[in-house]
Amino acid sequence: MKNVLITGGAGFVGYHLAKRLAGQGYNVYIVDNFFRSQDDADFAALKSLPNVWTMERDLTKESSWDELGGGFDHVYHLVGINGTQLFYDMPHEVLRIGVSTILHGLEWFRTKNGVPGAKILFTSSNEAYGDALKSFNQLPLPTPEDVPLVIGDPYNPRSSYSAQKLIGELFFIHYAKAYNFRMSIVRPHNFYGPRAGWGHVIPEVVERIAARVEPFPIFGADDTRSFCYIDDAVEAIQAVMESEKTDGGTYHIGTTEETKIQDLIEKIFTATHWRPATLDIKNSPEGSVKRRLADVSKIKRDTGWEAKTNLEEGLTKTIEWYLMHPKPAAKK
Ligand SMILES: NC(=O)c1ccc[n+]([C@@H]2O[C@H](COP(=O)([O-])OP(=O)(O)OC[C@H]3O[C@@H](n4cnc5c(N)ncnc54)[C@H](O)[C@@H]3O)[C@@H](O)[C@H]2O)c1
Repeated sequence: MKNVLITGGAGFVGYHLAKRLAGQGYNVYIVDNFFRSQDDADFAALKSLPNVWTMERDLTKESSWDELGGGFDHVYHLVGINGTQLFYDMPHEVLRIGVSTILHGLEWFRTKNGVPGAKILFTSSNEAYGDALKSFNQLPLPTPEDVPLVIGDPYNPRSSYSAQKLIGELFFIHYAKAYNFRMSIVRPHNFYGPRAGWGHVIPEVVERIAARVEPFPIFGADDTRSFCYIDDAVEAIQAVMESEKTDGGTYHIGTTEETKIQDLIEKIFTATHWRPATLDIKNSPEGSVKRRLADVSKIKRDTGWEAKTNLEEGLTKTIEWYLMHPKPAAKK
C-alpha cells in the first residue's frame, strides 16, 4: 500500500483526510507541532490505528524535514496557520510559518523524498483571489480558478494569509516545472465539520447559543459563502491527488450553493431549537470578502467529484459534535 505524508495532519482537514486514507488501508504519516490542533480523544483514536504514525515536529525548521526521511508516494502539504483571528493577531507569523514550510517542504520533496513519480499537493485558499472583488468589483461568480490573485492592501494584517498562499502557489507551480515533479494545488472554499477548531463562524455561533447570548451578535449578515462539508472536502482532495489529469493544475473545492451568513445562522438556530429574542447585526471584520462562490466545474470535469452533503445534514453532524465538545481554555 502507498505511503502518504500529511503535514499539519493533526488539524481539521488533516485529521479527516488521515482518517479517510487510513480507512482505505494507506500507510499514513502525520506530522504536526500541535500549534493549533489538539492531541484529543479523536486524534488518539486515529493514532491507535496500526497504519497511522505521528511525529511532533516544527516544520519551519529544515532539520524537521530531514528527520522525516523519505519514501512517500503522496505528500499532502496542509501545514500553515489557519483561523481568521490569528491573521489579525500574528500576521508576521502567518507569513513566516507559511513561506518557510512551503520552501523547506518543496526542497525536501525534490531532493530527499526519493520516490520516482511521487506527487505533492498544496492547500492554497480562496483568499488568494478574494481581494479581486473588493479591489476591482468584477470577480465572476461562481469564480473559476484562472482569476487574478490579488493583495488588496498589504497593510491589512489579513493579507498575510492570502499573500503566503499566493506566493505558495507560485512556488509549487515553478518548482514543479523546474525540477519536473508532480504537483497539484487545491483552493478550499469554507470547509466545515466536526473538530474544525473554535475560531470559525459555526463553532462560534454554537458557543453563543449554548451561552444563550442576548442580544445575539451576527457579523457580516449579508456576506455569502459556499460551505463544503468535510467528508466531501477530503474526498475531493484525495481525488485531485490521485488523478493524473490534475497534475500541474489548480482546483477549486466547494459547493455550488451560496449561503448568506444570516441564513446559515438561522439554520443553526433551527437545528439547536433555540432562537434569541434580539439580533445585533454587526459589520464584517475589516478585509473580509463580501461574496464567495466557487466554480467547481473543473474538478468535476477532471475527477468526477462533486459535493454530496447538503447544508442541513452537514450542520446537524457539526453542531452535535460542538455541543459535545465545548471550547477548551486558551485555544483559538
Ligand atoms: N479549513 C478551510 O476551510 C480552509 C480554507 C482555505 C484553506 N485552507 C488551508 O488548508 C490547510 C488545512 O487547513 P485546516 O483547516 O486543517 O487548518 P488547521 O489549522 O486545523 O491545520 C493546520 C495544522 O498545521 C499545524 N501547524 C502549524 N504550524 C506548524 C508548524 N510550524 N509545524 C508543524 N505543524 C504546524 C497546526 O498545528 C495545525 O494542526 C491550511 O493550509 C489552510 O490554510 C483551509
